[in-house]
Amino acid sequence: MSNNPIGVFDSGYGGLTILKELVAALPEYDYLYLGDNARAPYGDKTFEEVYAYTLQSVEWFFNQGCSLVILACNTASAKALRTIQQNNLPLIDPKKRVLGVIRPTSEVIGQLTDTKHIGIMGTQGTIQSESYLIEIAKFFPDVNVMQEACPEWVSLVEKNLYGSTEADYFVKYHIDSILSKDAKIDTLLLACTHYPILINKIKQFTPAGIQIISQGEIVAKSLKNYLSNHKEMEVSCSKMGKKEFFTTGDVVDFNEHASLFFGADIVAKKLIF
Ligand code: DGL
Repeated sequence: MSNNPIGVFDSGYGGLTILKELVAALPEYDYLYLGDNARAPYGDKTFEEVYAYTLQSVEWFFNQGCSLVILACNTASAKALRTIQQNNLPLIDPKKRVLGVIRPTSEVIGQLTDTKHIGIMGTQGTIQSESYLIEIAKFFPDVNVMQEACPEWVSLVEKNLYGSTEADYFVKYHIDSILSKDAKIDTLLLACTHYPILINKIKQFTPAGIQIISQGEIVAKSLKNYLSNHKEMEVSCSKMGKKEFFTTGDVVDFNEHASLFFGADIVAKKLIF
């Protein structure tokens, strides 16, 4: 069988929270993960930067044999996905596919709220793009969406400070802030794949009765549906249950911390762009 793993991309570690759920739902497939840790965080980068880094990474996945790449990063999905799908893919190879995490999440999030008031927690890039406001309005026009950029949260995670007093301060600050904007919110979406690592802190500072939604299972379910509806893609993906990991950052550091996100030991290789 040819080597055609499913590519999974993130600015750093966050996409591993998605990969973990993809592997749980679809264990037979091969996966190739790339974390662009050397250039993370993406959340405060310009459109041009996020687009250039993401496109370079997508081309790398294609050169490794992938036909399907998941941008397991909300910021890259918000800033680069559409342009890559519309402008680059037709020129690179119209049979290849790049999918993101914003649309599958937006398709289901409205079903999870009773009050029809939800809060989106994301990076500055994701929030400023208004991608969630636009996408959720398409599927659930009656749902009220409030947004909150949490610029410190990714750094807390990337610097392994998720248990620190800084984490207490910034997690509480942003939870209080979004809930003060709309008291009817009953559902908070963690619209950044790094944030599930802060889940204990987020739960600690979120009032009872408000549910916190991570994207991993939603994205996994959506990929499962996609593969069953796109048989050509499904048969072309290799299925030996292999997983390979690359980082543009420090390999030792990546291996040390990545297991927390993925829930199993990881031995990554270095990629230099
Ligand atoms: N994990 C990424 C996301 O889902 C972004 C983190 C970053 O700012 O690099 O948005």
